[in-house]
Amino acid sequence: MSRGPRTSPPGSGVALAFGLSALSSIGLTVVYAFGGQPQLEGLLLGVALGGLAVGLVRWAQDLMPGGGYVEQRDTEMGGTLQSDAAVRLFERGEEEVQRRSFLGKALGAALGALGLAALFPIRSLGSAPGTSLVVTPWADGIRAVTIDGEPVRPEELAIGGVLTVFPDGHPDAADAQTLLIHLSPGTYRPVTSDREGWAPEDFVAFSKVCTHAGCPVGLYQPADHRLFCPCHQSIFDVLEAAAPIAGPATRPLPQLPLRIDTEGYIAAGGDYSEPIGPGYWSRPRA
Ligand code: FES
Repeated sequence: MSRGPRTSPPGSGVALAFGLSALSSIGLTVVYAFGGQPQLEGLLLGVALGGLAVGLVRWAQDLMPGGGYVEQRDTEMGGTLQSDAAVRLFERGEEEVQRRSFLGKALGAALGALGLAALFPIRSLGSAPGTSLVVTPWADGIRAVTIDGEPVRPEELAIGGVLTVFPDGHPDAADAQTLLIHLSPGTYRPVTSDREGWAPEDFVAFSKVCTHAGCPVGLYQPADHRLFCPCHQSIFDVLEAAAPIAGPATRPLPQLPLRIDTEGYIAAGGDYSEPIGPGYWSRPRA
């Protein structure tokens, strides 16, 4: 099939496609750097890859030699006609080399820009949880409330009783769900001196998130002060700062310091003693 007369210099379509691809990749980098916009990023990535593909296909179609060639055997050597033809051929070859060099640079620019744009998504592959694994909504003075948002007074929980509480204003905070336990008078044993004031009126509190795999620790046996996790049967000793005494958990349940506020409600004296939940982020807080 005949392609008709060429109206633009050979290779101009290839350069245009590579240029468009490079510009799209640069645009993608800028959009990503300023916070990203999924639809726009998808569009730019599509144009960048499409431009590369079109450029390579046009290069193969327009600039690479194709088909079979038959070279006539020379019958005469030398002569003006042959010399002129050789000069024209040489000049055409020089042009071709320059064009390919230019297109090679355009291809390099398109690939380089796409590589640069790819660096930003790679940065997103790592986790960046910030302080979310070590900080919860609990803080000094935050009242303990029930799932219904009701603050709790000491007299509302009998000795041996246990209640799931949340920080006031955060009744849906899964990382802050806490077991509030009313111990028998005089049974609390602080494991370190800084925990001496953490059990006002014999109330103690521990994270409800199991340190094995994060299940909610749900069962309290007041006779021997033990907490049970139903998932894999870890058992925690409340009188030993909720240290694990059986099962796969290896870390104590983090303790929440408590105090009674000026209006007589149970409140936190700060955040947990250490990060909650499974041990793979169990580095102590600075
Ligand atoms: S999640 Fe609690 S023992 Fe496994």
